[in-house]
Amino acid sequence: MQVRKVVIPVAGWGTRSLPATKNLPKEILPVFRKPAIQYIVEEAIASGLSDVVFVNQQNKRIIEDHFDHNLSLEQYLERTGKTALLEEVRRVAEMANVIVVRQKEQRGLGHAVACAREVIKDEPFAVMVGDDLMFHRDPGIHQLLDVFHNEHMPVVGVMEVPRDKVSRYGIIDAEEYAPGLYRIRGVLEKPSADTAPSRLAIVGRYVLTPEVFSHLEAASPDASGEIQLTDALAGLARQNRLLAVKLYGQRFDIGDWVDYLAANIYFALQDDELHDDLSARLRDFLPPVR
Ligand code: UTP
Repeated sequence: MQVRKVVIPVAGWGTRSLPATKNLPKEILPVFRKPAIQYIVEEAIASGLSDVVFVNQQNKRIIEDHFDHNLSLEQYLERTGKTALLEEVRRVAEMANVIVVRQKEQRGLGHAVACAREVIKDEPFAVMVGDDLMFHRDPGIHQLLDVFHNEHMPVVGVMEVPRDKVSRYGIIDAEEYAPGLYRIRGVLEKPSADTAPSRLAIVGRYVLTPEVFSHLEAASPDASGEIQLTDALAGLARQNRLLAVKLYGQRFDIGDWVDYLAANIYFALQDDELHDDLSARLRDFLPPVR
C-alpha cells in the first residue's frame, strides 16, 4: 500500500530552547532563510508524501499558517512587482495538503503520534520529528519508504552516535541482514554507554503501520509522565515486527543550540553569495587552528 501521510509532531514546549521559544515555536526558528519545519515538509514532499498531519497545540498555530496563503502579503508583492518572492511564498503555501490534529496536553512524542490515530485510520504512515533536520542526496524518509515498500514492515531510521551520546537516545539491539539494514531484537531507551547493545540510535524518521497504535495505548508513562514512542517500538520489536535502516548525511537537532547554530552556518556556507563574507567573519571569531 502506497504511503501518503506523514505525521509531524510539533506540539512540544521546546523548553531546551527557552527563552527563544517562549512565544515562538522551536519549529519556526529560522535555519538560514527558512523556518526549520519547512525543511522537514520539503523532505516529505520530495520523498513522495502528499498529506502532512501536524500534531499541534493551541499556542503554535503559526506552524500551519506558514503552509497557507498570506493574501495581504501576496497582494503587496504583486503590486510592487516582487515576482520571485511572490512565487516563493505561493510555493510554500501550496506544497502540501495540511491536516492538523491537536495534542491537548503535552504528554510526549508517543502520545503525540497516538493523537493522529483517527486521521491515519488503517493506512501505513510516515513519522518525521518536527525538530530533526536531515540532509542527504537521498532524503532520510525516502530511504525508509523504499525499505517499507519492499518489506511491508515498520521501519525506523538509525544513525551511529559517539559512545558518550548513546545515553541520550533510544538504542537498538539488532542483526544486520543486508548492508545497512537491520532486524531489531530490542530497543533500549537512553541506556548507559556500558550497557548499550550498540551505538545505533533511533533518529526522527519512521515508517509505521497502524499496529503501533495498540502498543502506544498499552504503554505506561515514564518517570516524567510522558508516553515514549520508543516503548511502542520496543513492543513491535518483541514481535519481530521492526526493521531499521542506517541513515547517512548531516543531522541537526534544532532543540540543541550547537546543532541549531551549526545548521545555520551549514546552509549559509552553501550560498555562493554569502560563502566568502561569512567565512571571513567566522575566522574573526575563531582562534587560529594550530
Ligand atoms: P522534543 O522532546 O525534542 O521537543 O520533541 P520538546 O518537548 O518540544 O522540547 P524540549 O525537549 O522541552 O526542549 C521532539 C518533537 O516532538 C514534538 C516537539 O514539538 C518536537 O518537534 N512533541 C514533543 C510533541 O508534539 N508533543 C510532545 O508532548 C512532546
